Amino acid sequence: MNPELTAKAAAARANAVAPYSGFKVGAALETKDGRVYTGCNIENVSYGLTVCAERVALWKALSEGAREFRQIVIVTDAAVVTPPCGACRQLLWEYCGNLPVHLHSLRGLDQEYRLAELLPHPFDSDSLINNH
Ligand code: THU
Repeated sequence: MNPELTAKAAAARANAVAPYSGFKVGAALETKDGRVYTGCNIENVSYGLTVCAERVALWKALSEGAREFRQIVIVTDAAVVTPPCGACRQLLWEYCGNLPVHLHSLRGLDQEYRLAELLPHPFDSDSLINNH
């Protein structure tokens, strides 16, 4: 676990816009050259337009030109650590590959995975081979 990156994810979590679920999430995505992009979840009254903290961080990074990633930290205050949702796993796999994923709860819980453990047998560009 990286304390500085975790602190950045926790600080981002404080900005979460989560009036409907009350469930605040922060993420910090580090590039291979040491830049850090943070995100928080942003909810909407239509619910389905909600964006997760991980995706906010990823969109910020990609839109600033970042392409190579070292790790992500995801912070909540839950009784169990919070792994990324299925949609975020798919997007992280596409843009970050087999990323180390650090899960932290402010209650003092930590878990680490590689993304391939969280998304085995992914659908990705390899799946399109021979189809064009
Ligand atoms: N959420 C995230 O931001 N990241 C996750 O890894 C899981 C879920 C958000 C979406 C929604 O705003 C709230 O948490 C409850 O699902």
